[in-house]
Amino acid sequence: MKKLITALCLATGLTGFAQGNNYVQDYTKYQNLALTPPMGWNSWNKFACNVDEKMIMQMADAMVATGMRDAGYTYINIDDCWHGDRDAQGFIHPDAKRFPSGMKALADYVHSKGLKLGIYSDAGSQTCGGRPGSRGFEFQDAQQYAAWGIDYLKYDWCNTEGLKAEGAYKTITAALKKAGRPIVLSICEWGTDKPWEWGQNVGHLWRTTGDIYNCFDCIEDHGTWKSWGVMQIVDMQKDLRKYAGPGHWNDPDMLEIGNGKLTPGENRAHFTLWAMLAAPLIAGNDLRTMDAETLEVLTNKDVIALNQDKQGTQGFKVSATDGLEVWAKPLQGGDWAIAFLNRGTVNKTVDFDWSKNEIKDTDFGFSTNFATTTYNLKNLWDKKDKGTATTKKVFKTMVPAHDVVVLRLTKKK
Ligand code: GLA
Repeated sequence: MKKLITALCLATGLTGFAQGNNYVQDYTKYQNLALTPPMGWNSWNKFACNVDEKMIMQMADAMVATGMRDAGYTYINIDDCWHGDRDAQGFIHPDAKRFPSGMKALADYVHSKGLKLGIYSDAGSQTCGGRPGSRGFEFQDAQQYAAWGIDYLKYDWCNTEGLKAEGAYKTITAALKKAGRPIVLSICEWGTDKPWEWGQNVGHLWRTTGDIYNCFDCIEDHGTWKSWGVMQIVDMQKDLRKYAGPGHWNDPDMLEIGNGKLTPGENRAHFTLWAMLAAPLIAGNDLRTMDAETLEVLTNKDVIALNQDKQGTQGFKVSATDGLEVWAKPLQGGDWAIAFLNRGTVNKTVDFDWSKNEIKDTDFGFSTNFATTTYNLKNLWDKKDKGTATTKKVFKTMVPAHDVVVLRLTKKK
């Protein structure tokens, strides 16, 4: 018998490997789709399950009319609840009442505006909103999205009984590759299984936390799960920056700017921190009706430039004293961004003596050198030049409660 098996193995060439481990599947994502953090809009924070094609088309129109497209926002992303049923062959179709023209027509419309269309699914048997999930249908769903002309997939983690995250996300990234259309993969597994450790070649961004809640500094308890205010989410980003870089980003969730609960100062702080964190900038408000203050925050080109800096280095907290935090972000060409965040409820004055505050980035090896380099200073919210940073100078400013002051330090040539 043993001889027979050996002869069979030799005849079929089946020798010299462990059982079942010889097939090499390509589990890598499409490259170069998110060399800077993705920018766009998503329906969930404002509209939850209330999505339809008319609203999505209007949002694309508003993205253009408001100047957001020109400021860099590209993706119009439909979140949960667009789904109808699967057909007899298992292909998913949109809810025919909400999307009567179909997804291909919607993608064509969004593309005609110079924008891209994103969609949402879930690794489990149902989405978080109870719609059909992709489990068991991954390759068919990817084919369908590709045929529709989808450019971005947010892939959630509800109802995933028995699944392991890394494997499940590798399955969908392989399916997208096979489907043949470059699609950004947004891993939405809430940080539970440390996606930063395995996500770099699987997806383009990964959620680091549970859902954001529309408040500056609070926790919302839903019983079996919690959602998190802006400050709580910021605190959860600790120690994750070394995993991010061009093509693979930490995602601290979508923006709540313009959704009615944050003050103008809190909106600025939220936007500035997401820029400093090299986070995806996915607006979550109604672009059709936003006020001037919201638009001004979302389209601040200097703050966006920090976020979209091609070096792609995530910023970090330098110090925290009595509710006043100093944040720094190394930028290309030796420039820096420095933000002063006042988390407290009273205004604070800052006397920042450059000679005592050389900044060192211990993860990536960047450092300032105020002794030998002069940097021009610009305040990116009041848009005024603030002289220079050198060891002979002190930067003085007032940071209002729940607000931020952010400077760009441009190396003087
Ligand atoms: C989860 C995600 C959210 C949103 C909802 C949709 O909670 O984390 O961002 O997509 O599901 O049901």
